[in-house]
Amino acid sequence: EMTPDEAAFQDKIDADIKIEPRDWMPEGYRKTLIRQIGQHAHSEIVGQLPEGNWITRAPTLERKAILLAKVQDEAGHGLYLYSAAETLGITRDEMTEQLLDGRAKYSSIFNYPTLNWADIGAVGWLVDGAAIMNQVPLQRTSYGPYSRAMIRICKEESFHQRQGYDIVMKMAQGSPEQRKMAQDALNRLWYPSLMMFGPSDKDSVHSAQSMAWKIKINTNDELRQKFVDQTVPQAEFLGLTIPDENLKWNEEKGGYDFSEPDWGEFFDVLKGNGPCNQDRMATRNKAWDDGAWVREGLMAHAEKKRAAKLA
Ligand code: 3HC
Repeated sequence: EMTPDEAAFQDKIDADIKIEPRDWMPEGYRKTLIRQIGQHAHSEIVGQLPEGNWITRAPTLERKAILLAKVQDEAGHGLYLYSAAETLGITRDEMTEQLLDGRAKYSSIFNYPTLNWADIGAVGWLVDGAAIMNQVPLQRTSYGPYSRAMIRICKEESFHQRQGYDIVMKMAQGSPEQRKMAQDALNRLWYPSLMMFGPSDKDSVHSAQSMAWKIKINTNDELRQKFVDQTVPQAEFLGLTIPDENLKWNEEKGGYDFSEPDWGEFFDVLKGNGPCNQDRMATRNKAWDDGAWVREGLMAHAEKKRAAKLA
């Protein structure tokens, strides 16, 4: 049974009226937004590590400049999202602590390694492709600050996907060794990219409530299906093979039938047992510790300036 406040709130949601920071909102709405926006921001920040690994190893100056711009964009996306989460009453330090001590999640995909340059192409093509599929509907999410952050972020994502696809295209149309590398990258990153959309709907604990509150606009399986339907023709155009022998066009569904990811692997990665979980957390913790002197210096300076103003 809803209280009058909850009923009035749901009426606003149903009327597509954006919820703003100062509006009344159910505690559960606030909590799940802090969870989702915080983890979305963590994903942007941790997501810089696999790609950052290749900035100094890019094959040409142009590729280096493009990758540098993309990784810098991701840092900005993280900052927009942390700012959106702060409007809900959590501080950036609290969110950072939750990431560093493992209480908060970040997207499972970033626990897989980028072994060579073809992986950088496949990450842009598949990971940013999946991210776009997930983030475009999120522009219509009911919480104002999150929706506006998404609109800003989506403007930059298409460049991320295009530059990745361009890398894969060059290699798929390159030497036999390059083609082999492009196919190998697709083989290794295909299923982890499908996992980005979350568990299957029957195992999604938040979907029902998140959809009632229009935090989530489409279900996990809907977006996964759209991603497969969009990506298969792109692989075919490159002459690459999707590593799924069950992949088959289903006329009445108007989409592809495909094999689900290994959900055991998915939940294992979420538990911290993916190929790179330890490495990513160690790197983030080290960055936080190494940056302490800068933060302390800036805070001391700000404090002195404040005191001087008061004097
Ligand atoms: N990686 C890590 N955790 C995941 C996950 C994934 N791929 N998919 C689901 N989970 C977690 C959920 O967070 C939840 O755990 P929690 O309660 O501890 O938070 C649990 O698995 C159950 O999943 P649900 O489907 O019930 O959870 P949600 O309703 O939150 O749906 C989601 C998961 C679709 C990822 C949703 O949270 C979402 O849309 N988040 C915003 C988008 C986002 O975070 N994308 C990350 C990749 S995009 C990116 O990194 C930027 C790009 O530039 C690369």
